[in-house]
Amino acid sequence: MSVAGSLLLLPGDGIGPEVMRQVRRVIEWLGKRRGIEFKVEEGLVGGCSIDAHGVPLTDETMARALAVDAVLLAAVGGPKWDALGFDKRPEAGLLRLRKEMELFANLRPATVFDALVDASTLKPEVVRGLDIMIVRELTGGVYFGEPRGISTLPNGERRGINTQIYDTHEIHRVARIAFELARKRGNTVCSVEKGNVMESGLLWRQEVIALHKAEYADVTLTHMLADACSMQLVRNPKQFDVIVTDNLFGDMLSDEAAMLTGSIGMLPSASLGAADAQGKRKALYEPVHGSAPDIAGRDIANPIAMMLSFAMALRWSFDLQTEAELLEQAVENVLKTGMRTGDIMQPGMAKCSTSVMADTILREMDKLVAA
Ligand code: IPM
Ligand code: MN
Repeated sequence: MSVAGSLLLLPGDGIGPEVMRQVRRVIEWLGKRRGIEFKVEEGLVGGCSIDAHGVPLTDETMARALAVDAVLLAAVGGPKWDALGFDKRPEAGLLRLRKEMELFANLRPATVFDALVDASTLKPEVVRGLDIMIVRELTGGVYFGEPRGISTLPNGERRGINTQIYDTHEIHRVARIAFELARKRGNTVCSVEKGNVMESGLLWRQEVIALHKAEYADVTLTHMLADACSMQLVRNPKQFDVIVTDNLFGDMLSDEAAMLTGSIGMLPSASLGAADAQGKRKALYEPVHGSAPDIAGRDIANPIAMMLSFAMALRWSFDLQTEAELLEQAVENVLKTGMRTGDIMQPGMAKCSTSVMADTILREMDKLVAA
């Protein structure tokens, strides 16, 4: 037995616990079948933490997140907590994790499995073979900029304010991740902003150009305005390799990219911090989908995005490339057999539950290691 490292599981709200349960089964499988052990702890984040402790993330859970090798988070939020102020909402727990762990780079791959080409609302020829990586800045921009708030003006009207701010180092460090990734893929980066109306966007473009010239001239760099990018993503998504963009545009464009793949229930993500002296990065892995309260507790949610997020953790935090590929290959093979959760269901396919989808993926992993 070898101990690969420590994991903090934060199942959160809605469908979170039921999709996280399937990851636990993969962790057990790795122990039993591959002799790879993890030190696993579990904690509360989001609405469930509000209910238990009055806050969306306790200092104690925050400290544990900072101490482990990787955090896996499923989803937060739900109608029950919608009326709370911004700093008390479930989402504030997730934003605090991102900020205090300094997870400035959010990697959101959008890949289309051949078996799911017809599940997309776009034409098969538009999405077949799609493989995009969106690198979203995650600890800056309008999500965290000050001043912010809602105030009442002397004339009785109310005013809402948020501030978009980016400094040179914030742009450089996320762009660097995008360039490094591109070198291992199609060697092309598209930087996305609204430099035609926003100074912060103009600075973004200038700083990406400066960094490219200084250190990454071998990578092809293009630029696109965010509105045009959103259009091109549905018109001809295969023109993109790596997209690098700010926090807010990245939030929107990654949801859009998710739908190219058939379902947001398929998409994993990794949020990474800076590398320390040993090359280790703080990291949090989560599916792009939310807590889907409307289907929670019914064992019908798609567990694949959560399971693929764990595959990203195996790859990025534990250097377990073989096991990451094994899990990804098992997902692909199971989709080929026609097994589908409701979100990716199509005529002629076999509809299954969350747990049966995971059962089948685990059995496929058994087969793959036996082969
Ligand atoms: C995401 C989510 C979050 C975000 C919410 C839950 C705060 O939509 O991870 O994309 O806006 O970043
Ligand atoms: Mn989002």
